[in-house]
Amino acid sequence: MRAAAVVCSRRGSLGWWAAWGSPVGMDVDERQVAVAAARIGQSYPSCGVQVRQGDVLCLPFEDDSFDAVWCSDTVRYLDDGQLSVALGEFRRVLRPGGVLAVRERDPSLVMVRPGDPYLFLDYYRAVAAHVACTRHLLRSRELHRRLEGAGFTMVRQHTILIEHYAPLSSDVVRYRGPAWSQAARTALRLGLEPQWKPFLDPDGEQNPLRAADGYISEGCAGRGQRRHALTPLPRLLPRITLTGVR
Ligand SMILES: C[S@@+](CC[C@H](N)C(=O)[O-])C[C@H]1O[C@@H](n2cnc3c(N)ncnc32)[C@H](O)[C@@H]1O
Repeated sequence: MRAAAVVCSRRGSLGWWAAWGSPVGMDVDERQVAVAAARIGQSYPSCGVQVRQGDVLCLPFEDDSFDAVWCSDTVRYLDDGQLSVALGEFRRVLRPGGVLAVRERDPSLVMVRPGDPYLFLDYYRAVAAHVACTRHLLRSRELHRRLEGAGFTMVRQHTILIEHYAPLSSDVVRYRGPAWSQAARTALRLGLEPQWKPFLDPDGEQNPLRAADGYISEGCAGRGQRRHALTPLPRLLPRITLTGVR
């Protein structure tokens, strides 16, 4: 079996796919290719994963050459026309019966309490007017239609809600604190709610991530799926956001 991990991962998770044969990781950005190759070399020195530069709009692979294609957190960079082209490319390189698995975030499921439950939704709506990849994230719930339109069969979409209740783990705070501080800067620049101010300082006592009665939710953000990535592919499939069979 040969799996293609499209697009390669800066976090080194590409090595997980080695369990299924000879995966090839790919990214359009040569710097990301170099980072991924270095991470894989460190974490999985003898896993035989190849990493190369390439564009999902024109995959550098022969027809019918893979049993599975995994595309994680990347379709947000494709406009509607490009998404059709990429899905056509995924289908072309898959063998008949091969599986495409796509993961993408669903920003409509981000909620942070205490505070306005619609704060993040308003943020994504406002940023989407300026930033294409945020706009494309808003179509995550409809991706299954796009797979069907591209000719995939047995398409299933499964949205994973990931919830955290206070006290939040240090991992959760360490990952989201800086990201939401950056979001707060953008939100305040766009003139959104002053409620963003407490997010500016990731270590601030007023930051909602530190609230004693805090709660956060996110959709299909990946952590919930990553720990299943070493299980055999058939068991992995129900965990992946979106799958379709060629
Ligand atoms: C959010 S990162 C996700 C990286 C990786 N898939 C992961 O899950 O960690 C998105 C990646 O998509 C890559 N990318 C964007 N457009 C692409 C394209 N047309 N072809 C291939 N890679 C692309 C970017 O260079 C970036 O490294």
